[in-house]
Amino acid sequence: MGDSVDNNTAAETAIDALKLEEKDDFVDPWNVESQSDTGIDYDKLIHRFGSTKLDDAIIQRFEQVIGKPVHHFIRRGIFFSHRDLHTILRLKEEGKPFYLYTGRGPSSGSLHLGHLIPFLLTKWLQETLNVPLVIQLTDDEKTLWKDLKIEEAMKLARENAKDIIAVGFDVNKTFIFSDLDFVGKCPAFYQNMIRIQKCVTFNQVKGIFGFGDSDPIGKIAFPAVQAAPAFSSTFPFIFGDKKMHCLIPCAIDQDPYFRMTRDVAPRLGFPKPALIHSTFFPALQGAKTKMSASDNNSAVFLTDTPKQIKTKINKHAFSGGQQTVEEHRAKGGNTNVDVSFQLLQFFLPDDDELERIRVAYTKGEMLSGELKAKAIETLQPIVAEHQANRKLATDDVLDQFMALRQLKFD
Ligand code: TYM
Repeated sequence: MGDSVDNNTAAETAIDALKLEEKDDFVDPWNVESQSDTGIDYDKLIHRFGSTKLDDAIIQRFEQVIGKPVHHFIRRGIFFSHRDLHTILRLKEEGKPFYLYTGRGPSSGSLHLGHLIPFLLTKWLQETLNVPLVIQLTDDEKTLWKDLKIEEAMKLARENAKDIIAVGFDVNKTFIFSDLDFVGKCPAFYQNMIRIQKCVTFNQVKGIFGFGDSDPIGKIAFPAVQAAPAFSSTFPFIFGDKKMHCLIPCAIDQDPYFRMTRDVAPRLGFPKPALIHSTFFPALQGAKTKMSASDNNSAVFLTDTPKQIKTKINKHAFSGGQQTVEEHRAKGGNTNVDVSFQLLQFFLPDDDELERIRVAYTKGEMLSGELKAKAIETLQPIVAEHQANRKLATDDVLDQFMALRQLKFD
């Protein structure tokens, strides 16, 4: 674990050395690293994690149930894996209730574009499926893992919540909570944490998360905190005592938490939460690692100005183009490693335009500078619009989202 405090034991150091020698990609909730320029091998990851590919058959079924095309994130394989999505589609078809659960660990004042991915899909899911949503802000997790005081983490949670609200969630159907605040207001939350903690041994969390002897005990107990919102009885003011199914959109790095949750669920008499997993939005420097808030140059933040976006992409976005214009015209560029192209895959919804760009770049008709310019002009208005929406997310609006109350659902 890259973030683990200090004083690693000899055994931990030996394990770290082994990890580096491994040729396999490394993915856990804190670190994402691939040896390949094209990034993580997601098919291998599905196999290792034991999830299921989001294939054409389930996409067709999804479209049949909702009666419209799926979001381009699903169509383009950006969301690539799932667990038990069939169950959720059946519930929707039968008109039975379920809810959505997602979250954010407030480690920085602003979200970056990568964080936006699960929230954008969650918003589409909320609108399309017409269901309630709970959003967890794990300020406790970030206090434990980062050099952050409780008070600072709680402040960041409120700031991040404003970014999340700016995505456009429906206040009548959305409850946002910070762990460090909510735990004092809702005994059911803590009661479920304890129920979960009773079901999981230290050996099991060590196996799942790689915790070592020198990790603070708070880290070892924390996975139960992220598991609890997957059980509807954590929110008695929303769901009463109904045991409802839940669907969790997240990037695949969060899956270890929910593998544990799914193990525990039947023992506590709850349905296993379903999941829909996204790939990682790459770091600007290339797909070997994910866009991360801890490296300012790896990320486009939602607070960046148009000028900063332009500079960051021009300076840092890894190019799949050739060394010289002549060589590029002759050989063409490689869209599989080109970060500007990947940015467009996430944020340019027009399939035909994206395909035209892919063909032109691959043939060498479009140059790297032109591709970067297209990425810049696509992202600038998206970030500017987000900033305008965020201004509307005042403290009052935030308090409405965070108030313990009933949500609307059929
Ligand atoms: P956090 O704050 O690291 O990330 C928030 C959400 O963004 C996803 N994510 C990314 N997606 C695409 N590309 C990236 N480069 C990228 N980086 C992060 C994460 O998978 C996550 O969905 N412990 C969690 C907070 C949490 C949570 C949850 C997340 C609590 N409960 C339930 C998802 C579902 C965290 O620190 O996320």
